[in-house]
Amino acid sequence: MTEPARKATAVAPSNIAFIKYWGARDLERALPHNPSISMTLSRCFSRCTVEHRPDGDEHRVLLRSSTGELRPPGAEFTQRVVRHLDRIRKMTDCPGGFHVATENSFPAAAGLASSASGFASLSLAATRALGLELDSRELSSLSRLSGSGSAARSALGGYVEWPAVLDDPECCAVALATAEDWDLRDVIAVVDSGPKKTSSLEGHRRAPTSPHYEKRQEQLPARLQAVREAIAQRDLEALGPVLEDEAIDLHLVAMSSKPAIFYWRPATLEVLWQVRSLRDEGVAAWATMDAGPNVHVICPPEAEEPVARRLGALAGVQSVIRDAVGTGPGVVSEHLF
Ligand code: PMV
Repeated sequence: MTEPARKATAVAPSNIAFIKYWGARDLERALPHNPSISMTLSRCFSRCTVEHRPDGDEHRVLLRSSTGELRPPGAEFTQRVVRHLDRIRKMTDCPGGFHVATENSFPAAAGLASSASGFASLSLAATRALGLELDSRELSSLSRLSGSGSAARSALGGYVEWPAVLDDPECCAVALATAEDWDLRDVIAVVDSGPKKTSSLEGHRRAPTSPHYEKRQEQLPARLQAVREAIAQRDLEALGPVLEDEAIDLHLVAMSSKPAIFYWRPATLEVLWQVRSLRDEGVAAWATMDAGPNVHVICPPEAEEPVARRLGALAGVQSVIRDAVGTGPGVVSEHLF
């Protein structure tokens, strides 16, 4: 008798790094050069349905398009998903194929960490479809093996450090504090929602070619400690300057890599100026960016409205996403197919 197909759907959030993962010891296995620390988001998430078909060995991958239909995505994304599904099949010793459909609540591949939420939700949905219950360390480690290191952090809610121990082969993330511990907001100024031209994977590969790479590595132990302490004490005045320095250094390294990578658009700089002006006016707000042109503004709840209003009024800002710290991934009953 053939086993019936089993289906599971998971939702996993994106995250924004306060201390960045940029450069790897082993890119294939996403083993980073340095620990990173992030805040898990709540409104920017991926939802993924996986059906395990024990009687087939082909995988089928669909992605919700901007016009709303589920369609086969580009070759590169499909390949990454298929490779991850093959890995899960091998690790769990479960033969068969997987049918996958996924969607994002926000623009993908634009430096808003859609690979983090995408691969964390895929890892959770695929293992649940196989009837497996992973704990957060196992889910983090599995998500990382997709090649998206930041996916390791999307396996947990709140404030997250990855890896807990740099040379641990499991290389999984741990929570530093929960979402309930500290209500921070992330006002995201979207200045370009199109896909970026240079992937993070390529950015990690090129990072050590920058003359600023080693300098940033030297500064990281002090920055990591400052961010851990700021999170423990809920001290935004201590956190803010460190997260801005980190974001600027990430882009300094990218812009001086060989060949150079420019993620910024003119409006990126305009938003950074406005965040400084807001601070001069007494609004607690600090900017950070991932590998893309869009700016994340971290602020307390009372600053969310003035920040969103100011940034939303700028000509170069296409839209503003008002996000907040979130509780992490979970399984849901509403399937995509
Ligand atoms: O996880 P990846 O390979 O997509 O790299 C993430 C890189 C940054 O978003 C720029 C930084 C980070 O730590 O999230």
